[in-house]
Amino acid sequence: MTGLYIHIPFCKQKCNYCDFASFAGRDFLRDDYLAALAQEAARYATDTCRTLYVGGGTPSVLTVSQLEKLVALVEKNFLPISAFSESTFEANPESLTSEKIAFLTSFGFNRFSVGLQSFHDDELKLLGRVHTSADFLRAFESLRKNGAKNINVDLIAGLPGQSLEMFLQSLEKLISLAPEHISVYGLQIEEGTPFFERGIVCDQLLMRRMLEETRVRLQRAGYHHYEISNFARPGYESQHNTHYWQYGQYIGLGSAAASFMGGIRRQNTPDICEYIRLIGEGKNAQIDAEELSGQAREGEKLVVGLRQLDGVEISPLQKQFFGTEIEKHIHNGLLVRDGKKVKLSEEGLFVANEVFCSFVAPFENV
Ligand SMILES: C[S@@+](CC[C@H](N)C(=O)[O-])C[C@H]1O[C@@H](n2cnc3c(N)ncnc32)[C@H](O)[C@@H]1O
Ligand code: SF4
Repeated sequence: MTGLYIHIPFCKQKCNYCDFASFAGRDFLRDDYLAALAQEAARYATDTCRTLYVGGGTPSVLTVSQLEKLVALVEKNFLPISAFSESTFEANPESLTSEKIAFLTSFGFNRFSVGLQSFHDDELKLLGRVHTSADFLRAFESLRKNGAKNINVDLIAGLPGQSLEMFLQSLEKLISLAPEHISVYGLQIEEGTPFFERGIVCDQLLMRRMLEETRVRLQRAGYHHYEISNFARPGYESQHNTHYWQYGQYIGLGSAAASFMGGIRRQNTPDICEYIRLIGEGKNAQIDAEELSGQAREGEKLVVGLRQLDGVEISPLQKQFFGTEIEKHIHNGLLVRDGKKVKLSEEGLFVANEVFCSFVAPFENV
């Protein structure tokens, strides 16, 4: 099976922490972009996709008539939206109107992922978000009224000046709404973002306390912690992302989108105009293609697999390349054996990048 990802790179305003390939002020390009997406989709046409993820950027900034074009290009080249076993639509609260929700659910989108980040309006302002917590509540209620039965909500922990108490207030309020899935990310200060330019630094110890408490409270509330940043009511784990963590193949359409087919990873240009131009000229929009093999491939497989809390079975090749490193992490308490599998320990969960470094090039043992 294949996953299908479609990137919508438009945002109303660029958030102060975000380094995703998304842009504000380019709305005039939306129709040309959708036309290019339709052309690119035709090159990949197949009926083998089982999960669909429309992400961004902010897909919910599209108008209903633009959403119609998006649905049409998926249905013409892949499957009816209702035939995907999971079809996720990513949205921001201020632009997810009842009209758009009704349209998307009528076509069979069966999962919505909404970026809330915080329930405190002063924190939202600091982040550069354009919505308030009231906008989120309105969108959430409208999703439920329209029959949405699988909703994910994103929160960020470790905001500048945020106390443990403030963060937990957001988390508890979210738990009280009972979404099926919750993602909690520790704030990353990315180079080139306004937060980076302002010299903001995260209090790592405080963030760790927030994430530890997140795990305790969400598990107590019945959520399954199944990936480093992801929690779900049993049966609501994201199928699309799980396929990615299991190193499955996927098609990525749009600017900045990556595809992974036949062991080759291809990456499209993040430049929206360049993407539209290249696709319009009948060329491909890829700026990078890489075929991973041997140690690099096995290492990458290990890194994505270990993000899942169930862990991974170590293959003979992985044992050959990384056996010493794996044993070292087990000895240091960052990895643990669980039957035939190896997984991150409680401690390893909070320093996962330290563990993952051992499995990406340049390798120490080469
Ligand atoms: C693809 S992004 C954006 C989706 C959507 N446009 C939004 O803003 O809600 C998905 C999620 O990644 C998280 N995220 C983005 N940048 C981050 C950063 N620098 N640190 C931590 N989390 C981040 C946010 O929680 C965000 O909702
Ligand atoms: S966090 Fe979301 S809304 Fe904000 S700039 Fe990034 S993609 Fe756009």
